Amino acid sequence: MIDYDRLFSKDTGNFMRSPVRDIFRKVDLSAICSFAGGYPDAATFPLDDIRELCALVLDRYGAKAVQYGATQGVTELRQAISERYGVPVGNIQITTSSQQGIDVCTRILTDPGDVILTTSPTYLGALQSFKSYRAEIVPLQGFGEDGCGAAPEVLGRAKFCYVIPDFQNPGGTTMSLAERRQLVALSEKFGFVIVEDAPYRELRYSGEAVPTIWSLAPERTLHLGTFSKIFAPGFRLGWIFGPEELLDKIYVCKQSLDLCPPILDQYIAAEFMRSGRLDQNLKKSLELYRGKRDLMLSLLGEYMPEGVRWTHPEGGLFLFLTLPERLDTVAMYDRALAAGVAYVAGSFFYPDGSHRNTMRLNFSFLDSSRMEEGIKLLADVIASYL
Ligand SMILES: Cc1ncc(COP(=O)(O)O)c(C=O)c1O
Repeated sequence: MIDYDRLFSKDTGNFMRSPVRDIFRKVDLSAICSFAGGYPDAATFPLDDIRELCALVLDRYGAKAVQYGATQGVTELRQAISERYGVPVGNIQITTSSQQGIDVCTRILTDPGDVILTTSPTYLGALQSFKSYRAEIVPLQGFGEDGCGAAPEVLGRAKFCYVIPDFQNPGGTTMSLAERRQLVALSEKFGFVIVEDAPYRELRYSGEAVPTIWSLAPERTLHLGTFSKIFAPGFRLGWIFGPEELLDKIYVCKQSLDLCPPILDQYIAAEFMRSGRLDQNLKKSLELYRGKRDLMLSLLGEYMPEGVRWTHPEGGLFLFLTLPERLDTVAMYDRALAAGVAYVAGSFFYPDGSHRNTMRLNFSFLDSSRMEEGIKLLADVIASYL
């Protein structure tokens, strides 16, 4: 027998299992009302377009569509992204999902023990990546006039600050322009990079768009985008905008990861954008999700017991509940599951595991009737602890 424990790298000791993915392994999602995942509504997937574009791409590009391709991504897709977002092609790297984007940014910037700054709560997949590189994760308290809650000595050791400025996962909150400027000012003062993760940016249902951090400070920002929420997550395609010097390191790093992003997927995505179908499809998705967000907010108002508060997101896929202080959503979870409803405990998104009286709810996945059933069940479970 091999003693595997002797062989595993130190990094593996820091790997963190995703409680969200564990939920999916244990539970048949179709059998319960699940507010747990970040799944888009399958009705937004343009299956007919994909079928058509797949044939078109194979006709147009032939074998090239399934051959190895450039590590930066295929030119057609980089050009389509360049035109849509007004960013030079030379500042665009295609990634095999924005999860990979987070991981390569962390990999090129972080040695064990280095400081990574993040909001608290923050995206679980990012925490998984940071931990796997044995970073010291420092949660910030915000980006106000009176600072961010971290000592100058710690800020000076930071390699980058990771934020999700638009409709954050899990909070559903959006950073104001003043907060974005404050973060840029901190990055200028202390010399760290900003990683701006923007998977939900185009899913805005109300209010005014706020400029990206990339648009404020392109020389110090790595901006991550993805097709997962505006097209289909199964394509596993995303992009990074960044300064050329940083992108060059990412380019070499990606060679060791997967040589190049999936070629057929990239051609399909490029055609989906250039033919105007992405915008047509997005328009329908926005209408659908706006209705779902509004429904979720009204159901919460109708059914939740006294003392429960929630965020009012202007976009994205999530809202965040805060229950009375003494309640523990981790402990409550099995009772909820037995009742037929799933959520993600909010404490999983806090680097220090605090805020055990919070939970994240997704509003994109369930249809209206199941959403009502689920919120009623959840309200009853919460009420049973009050
Ligand atoms: C904030 C955030 N970043 C990145 C991702 C990963 O997206 P992708 O499917 O592009 O890997 C998600 C997915 O839910 C997310 O919420």
